[in-house]
Amino acid sequence: MYKIKIKNFNTMKKIILLSAMLFTAAIFVSISATEDIVNNTIPGNEKYVVPENVQAIIDNKCFDCHNTKSKNLKAKMKLKFDKMAHLKTHKLLGKLDNIAETVTEGDMPPKKAIKKYPDLKLTAEEVKTLSDWSNGLISKIAGE
Ligand code: HEC
Repeated sequence: MYKIKIKNFNTMKKIILLSAMLFTAAIFVSISATEDIVNNTIPGNEKYVVPENVQAIIDNKCFDCHNTKSKNLKAKMKLKFDKMAHLKTHKLLGKLDNIAETVTEGDMPPKKAIKKYPDLKLTAEEVKTLSDWSNGLISKIAGE
């Protein structure tokens, strides 16, 4: 009798432990889903992929002007990085092409802004990273 009770207790412990693990896993999954949205990608949308090193450049040097809540209306009208993943394919291709072009030409971030905030200037390496990413995505999407 006593032994059976111990056995049941162990089963209970196992069930509680398993529930706790499942609960933690569920929380973890929902957190990573939120992070994906913050990273401007939609889970399951394979089209728009932003590697971490690219995201870091966008966050540091572009996002402040180019986001849905930006006060810079001209910038916001042209490009919103937090909406990129939601664009229709042809629009996304157009924006990616714009990005590659403006950064290689040295037009973005705007020279005026760089004068005021020199840290905004892209290094040669960042220009390459951004344009390689844009052009690579264009080839990948257009080649599908
Ligand atoms: C200080 C604000 C600011 C920052 C930072 C900034 N931009 Fe812009 N961006 C603008 C403005 C303003 C426009 C609109 C220019 C216009 O309409 O003449 C613009 C336009 C653009 C366009 C559209 C160009 C076109 O011809 O349609 C692209 C693409 C772009 N920016 C990319 C970027 C990228 C990539 C970065 C980061 C490397 C960046 N921008 C950083 C302000 C900014």
